[in-house]
Amino acid sequence: MDGYNVAVVGATGAVGTRMIQMLEESKLPIASVKYLASKRSAGKVLKFKGADVVVEELVPDSFNNINLALFSAGGGVSKKFAPEAVKRGAVVVDNTSAFRMEEGVPLVVPEVNEDALYKHKGLIANPNCSTIQMVVALEPLREVYGLKKVIVTTMQAVSGAGNRAIQELHDETQAILNGEEYEPQVLPVSGDKKHYQIAFNPLAQIDVFEDDGYSHEEWKMIHETKKIMADQDLQVTATCVRVPVAVAHSEAVWFELEKDGADVAKLQSILKTAPGVVLQDDPKNQIYPQAVNAEGKKDTFVGRIRADKEQANSFHLYCVSDNLLKGAAWNSVQIAERLHALNLMRVPD
Ligand code: A2P
Repeated sequence: MDGYNVAVVGATGAVGTRMIQMLEESKLPIASVKYLASKRSAGKVLKFKGADVVVEELVPDSFNNINLALFSAGGGVSKKFAPEAVKRGAVVVDNTSAFRMEEGVPLVVPEVNEDALYKHKGLIANPNCSTIQMVVALEPLREVYGLKKVIVTTMQAVSGAGNRAIQELHDETQAILNGEEYEPQVLPVSGDKKHYQIAFNPLAQIDVFEDDGYSHEEWKMIHETKKIMADQDLQVTATCVRVPVAVAHSEAVWFELEKDGADVAKLQSILKTAPGVVLQDDPKNQIYPQAVNAEGKKDTFVGRIRADKEQANSFHLYCVSDNLLKGAAWNSVQIAERLHALNLMRVPD
């Protein structure tokens, strides 16, 4: 085989365009690419390694002869078309929440649970962006000390809600600075009843609310973390906040370790060499992670590690990562690279 025929579903979107970029940078052998989106974008011309690629309307037969399909066009599109892709022999890496919690669907962050790939039946789910960077930061510590409890507060960039949300942040900010009226139409959730100002105004709602008062984003962080770490006894809770930042999520994480003996220096030394982590933790010199520095990078940046003053074996950290890269496009392409390396890039019989 010369390489894989790769389809990107949602190629015109905030994540899809980054998927293309990650594929361009990847060592994955690629024979051809196909860009798929809605009818609205059919005929639009995008690039792959300098060559023109015409965007096509997504239909079931788009997946004939495709080996790998990366999906990021919303849960509804994945529910309808991912099974069509698998039926036609394509391995799907799905960046939506459509299949993440389904039994038998691996939910994978390569730094944490690459082994789950061995059980795939054609479809692999890419976790939620805010969950990915948190587990990348916590897993190396969990491996040494065990993990009992996590309490996280997120500060999430608007790009997690797509290109329209980025545009809304820009236009609304500009309008407010110009002293003009602006009617929000996208955030906090495009499909919910009310829309609120995001410019200069954090919103404690990401995704819709559940009956118990948690937002669905918070629900995802809780349940996806347990599934990825394969530990249903792990105690996790989350508060998810959308902030007026275009790209890169920031998270304040409190965690309790199972074993005694950890201290800040030991945790720093573990994270210094951990895969996918860059330690930026030097408060005396004002070194700590920042969204503006994380944008465009594949790593998760970790700093502000502190021992809890009140409770034993408990610590705080602050982590930042590009939600469109490690939180989405890079994690998906990284999964594809691992599938290739492990000789798993095929739909099992
Ligand atoms: P399109 O540009 O044609 O609307 P974002 O997350 O930035 O909002 O992007 C969403 C992506 O999903 C876009 O590429 C969008 O294509 C694509 N998309 C949305 N709805 C559909 C659909 N029904 N079929 C195929 N692609 C879709």
